[in-house]
Order: sequence, then structure tokens, then C-alpha cells
Amino acid sequence: MIIAIDGPAGVGKSTVAKLLAARLGYLYLDTGALYRAIAWKVLQSKVQPTDHEQVTALLDSTSVHMQYHNGAMQVLVDGREVTGELRTPEVTGTASIVSAIPAVREWLLPIQRQIGQRGSVVAEGRDVGTKVFPSAPLKFFLEADATVRAERRHRELVAAGHGRAIEETYQDLSGRDMRDRNRSIAPLIPAADARPIDTSVLNVDQVVEQMMAAVSAAL
Ligand code: DC
Repeated sequence: MIIAIDGPAGVGKSTVAKLLAARLGYLYLDTGALYRAIAWKVLQSKVQPTDHEQVTALLDSTSVHMQYHNGAMQVLVDGREVTGELRTPEVTGTASIVSAIPAVREWLLPIQRQIGQRGSVVAEGRDVGTKVFPSAPLKFFLEADATVRAERRHRELVAAGHGRAIEETYQDLSGRDMRDRNRSIAPLIPAADARPIDTSVLNVDQVVEQMMAAVSAAL
């Protein structure tokens, strides 16, 4: 069973996906971390993220692997564990840009599907229900008001020591949203069979409970 959770940044996907995976004893697959891994490599290599040709060429000399340690997903780029370096604003902005490059998306597809083959996975991202696992039996699409999402992301950044003006976070989030929703390849849209959940006025537990009810009905 694969459970697909898609939605925009700051909607609470990672939090609920992790909790749902823990409740069910499933693996948690954070597909955004893979785009962040490519962004990390692009930054290390001093390649322009907007240069499709150079980013595509860089993939030939890149390896990205995932491993699980006590249930937590770790990302290795060229054999180096970089999980803790993937959530800086710099990597976040670069990931949003390189994720619009078709070759990057194609390159990451088999890596994501390989994890899916292990079965019992909660996968979270922008296109897991539409493109990566289109036949997943259970799909959710989370939405929330942009202001609520910016507030949530702001709190996360402050907690992680990357605090800055909330307006800046709002602008970043809106820019990423626009890129994610409007890119020509695998844009952020709900799968036809996804269940929408508006998390604007729901807390984490309420969202997880709604999902658990759907899982119980589907099993
Ligand atoms: O979920 P996240 O913020 O960690 O994702 C980082 C970036 O990766 C995001 O701006 C869009 C991209 N992404 C994507 O295009 N497709 C996915 N399945 C997951 C993430």
C-alpha cells in the first residue's frame, strides 16, 4: 500500500506524513529531500540552477541515495550524508528552481519508485499522486491559506535557527508556489482521485485522524 500526500509548501505535509507513517509502521518518503539533494550538489558545484544544460550534465557525476536510520530518512549525495544541510533557505530556493528541469525530474523518478517497491510507504511531495505513484490506492491533497502556510513555515525556520522577517518567508513561499503550480512538467495539481483536505483550520492531530479514517476504510 502506498499513500500519496501532495500539496504546497508550508501546508503541513511533512509533519502529518511522518506521523501517519509512524502510526501505520510504514516508511516515510520525503520526495522534496531528493530535489533538495540535487540543489545541494548544484550549490556545491557552483553551477547556475537556471542553466538547464549544466544542471543536466551535473547529474552524470552525481549519486543520490536514501537510507533509513531508526525510521528517519537520510539522504546521501555522492556517499556523503547531507540530510542536516538540506533545509537552509539557499537550498530551498535552489530546489524550487532545479525541480522545474525535466531531466532532474526524470532522474529522480526511479529513485522514488525504488523506495515505493518496498511497499507500505507514505510518500509526500508535489507530484507523488499524479506522476510518481499514479496508481497509489490512497491519495490526499493538502491545501491551506497562503498566510497560514507562511506563518507555519516562519515558525519552523525560527526553530531551526534560520529566523528572518515573516514577509520574506511569505514572498519566498508565494514564489515557490507559483513555480510549482505553473511549471510545464509535473505541476502541483491534485490527482483526480485525491482526497482534498484544507488544513487552514485543522491542527496536526485532526488532519492525521482524517487520514487514519480514510486508511481504515481503504484497508
Ligand atoms: O517539499 P519540499 O519543500 O522539501 O520541496 C522542495 C522543492 O522540491 C519544492 O520547491 C518543489 C520540489 N518538489 C517537487 O517539485 N516535486 C516533489 N515531488 C517534491 C518536491
